Amino acid sequence: MTRRPYIVGNWKMHGTRAMLSEARAIDRAAQRHMKVEVALAPPYTLIHPIHREAEQIAVGAQDCHHADGGAHTGDISAAMIADAGATFVILGHSERRQDHAESDALVRSKAEAAFAAGLRVIMCCGESLATRESGGAARFVRAQLAASLPPVDAMPAELADRLCIAYEPIWAIGTGIAATTEDIAAMHAEIRALLIELLGPEHGPEVRILYGGSVKPDNAAAIFAVPEVGGALVGGASLTADSFMGIALAASDPLES
Ligand code: PGA
Repeated sequence: MTRRPYIVGNWKMHGTRAMLSEARAIDRAAQRHMKVEVALAPPYTLIHPIHREAEQIAVGAQDCHHADGGAHTGDISAAMIADAGATFVILGHSERRQDHAESDALVRSKAEAAFAAGLRVIMCCGESLATRESGGAARFVRAQLAASLPPVDAMPAELADRLCIAYEPIWAIGTGIAATTEDIAAMHAEIRALLIELLGPEHGPEVRILYGGSVKPDNAAAIFAVPEVGGALVGGASLTADSFMGIALAASDPLES
């Protein structure tokens, strides 16, 4: 891994102000793991409170709307989350694609809006169990990613700092059954090849690819040892400082920890 491993907690629809103490504990612990980049994506309502207190970790959102503003009741724009203190946004998570019928084209327009607002984008992709069992996982993920990313000339020049991919097989999310290291290695190699095709030889090799789906402290080290794994997007295990920082520890230089 040429860049620092990137460990991102996705709190999903979990967390009221009572969880701020956990965010504080994560922030304090992250200060002891400087070789790892730690970030949290809490619900919208906690972005600003965490941003105000955090000294080390970055704070982001789990989604944003594709428009700058307007008559979109209940929606939040990229500029609004940036104003609240978010520096990144997760887009195209499978739960949004499923629960809100988000298409690849919609996800792409959200990415354009997020880049325009100065945010980093974590672009999610991943196949269902049925697709994997049919042998079509690599084809599906390549097509989904190619259609969800804006064209390279519509993305920021400093792309390796602004874009990151998260491969999250749907069947591994929240199930306790992570993909095998062989499956992760094969899919991350596919994604790397696609990124070089889409983004060119300068950016393609540099954009980090995270793995997500039942990452826990006890499987994290094996996952981080897989080539082309640049970090993790963590759901359930990011809800407590103990388990989340157990994962960060696995990603930090063993000589330093
Ligand atoms: P999980 O979720 O770690 O709870 O499997 C990962 C995600 O959905 O980002």
